[in-house]
Amino acid sequence: MVDVILGLQWGDEGKGKIVDFFAKDYDVVARFQGGPNAGHTLYVQDKKVVLHQIPSGVFHPGIINLIGNGVVLDPVTLKKECDTVASFGIDLKKNLFIAERTHLILPTHRALDKAAEISKGNQKIGSTLKGIGPTYMDKTGRNGLRVGDLLDKNFTTQYIKLRMKHQRLLDNYNFQEDITAWEEEFFEALEFLKQLNIVNGEYFINSQIKAGKRILAEGAQGSMLDIDFGTFPYVTSSNTISAGVCNGLGVAPQHIGEVIGVTKAYCTRVGGGPFPTELENETGEELRKTGNEFGATTGRPRRCGWIDLVALNFACMINGVTRIVMTKADVLDAFSELEICTAYQVDGKESREVPFQMDRRKPVPLYQKFAGWNSPTSQARTVDELPATMKTYVSFINKYLGVDIHYISNGPGRDQIIQVK
Ligand code: GDP
Ligand code: IMO
Ligand code: MG
Repeated sequence: MVDVILGLQWGDEGKGKIVDFFAKDYDVVARFQGGPNAGHTLYVQDKKVVLHQIPSGVFHPGIINLIGNGVVLDPVTLKKECDTVASFGIDLKKNLFIAERTHLILPTHRALDKAAEISKGNQKIGSTLKGIGPTYMDKTGRNGLRVGDLLDKNFTTQYIKLRMKHQRLLDNYNFQEDITAWEEEFFEALEFLKQLNIVNGEYFINSQIKAGKRILAEGAQGSMLDIDFGTFPYVTSSNTISAGVCNGLGVAPQHIGEVIGVTKAYCTRVGGGPFPTELENETGEELRKTGNEFGATTGRPRRCGWIDLVALNFACMINGVTRIVMTKADVLDAFSELEICTAYQVDGKESREVPFQMDRRKPVPLYQKFAGWNSPTSQARTVDELPATMKTYVSFINKYLGVDIHYISNGPGRDQIIQVK
């Protein structure tokens, strides 16, 4: 069986911490999409670690971690990350596997990402500039290079061919930056990558399923950044939703079990695009400060606002969410009043649906007010220690979504999580 943990908002919901927490119940943890645009924060031996490409189960010895075919992989970031992980005594030869169909992010993909963003001017996506979009474009355009191609003696010829194509595009953008240094570290990192366990991902994962192993698929980004269902064009370039597990790992739909959706107790977004409940005021500033809302990959300040049940309801629908984990509840500790968005006003009409072209329709959020708990909760370890006002907030969300919050996370630490159902 394959259970899934994924983000229900615009990313950074705390997936890394939650995957790390649940990993002990699984034999395999697999990433199925995205790439180094992700930044998943975990605390290991009280040290903060941010993982971009390696699945968040890697710190549990004995668990197999798979980078699936749906991921786009930057060998340079991977090498750095492997060094960090190895410094904790983890033997990656034993527990990290990479699917041979995984597409490679080339230095010119990063350059193209940058050139494309610059050319968009004030309509820029706010990409992490890790080369995600151009790499997926080469995948669907049937030009990309894959991890398994590395073992092919024609690899360099294929690389040069693609690089020349990219150069023509870069010339078109009038992109002048010298990327020689990027290429040097890329080729060095490829030698490192070749030493890792490169496998046929689909046979690998299906043999695990057949052997009755428990698998956890780890999503990156969030449902509202999904290429099909997110706030297009302000999205990432992969299917971040549960359906992405099937084509991102080669797993048939009947093998999917629980779909665990992670949401913050409020909402954030980093980068451009619509965000109906965004608070561009002191309250938003306080959420950012208290929640330490700065990007784990880029360090950019995250935009902050109240929880949006219209968007969450949509995310639960398209993912088939069976359980919810609510993170960062402790960040709301200091607020005496909270608001929950229960509907949008779109074109003058009240609606509970996410509209097409959210960027142009500009939905106005309609709120219901709730009393805050106004007391510290990060020390709580049992449901009985949680304030009644928090329970009211949670049960309202459960009722609205028709899916229950099973866990509340009340701090970044591994032990700061409470089972409530
Ligand atoms: P991800 O991309 O979904 O894995 O999330 P990020 O790691 O980008 O951002 C989540 C941030 O919130 C990280 O700094 C975590 O350490 C932190 N975090 C996770 N859960 C909690 C929580 O319950 N409370 C607090 N205060 N911080 C949390
Ligand atoms: P995790 O896994 C938050 C956002 C970028 C930008 C848009 C497109 O840590 O939750 P891209 O680099 O994919 O071309 O950027 O998507 N974005 C994320 N926002 N968390 C992420 O990952 C993100 N990955 C991409 O900020 O708006
Ligand atoms: Mg993140």
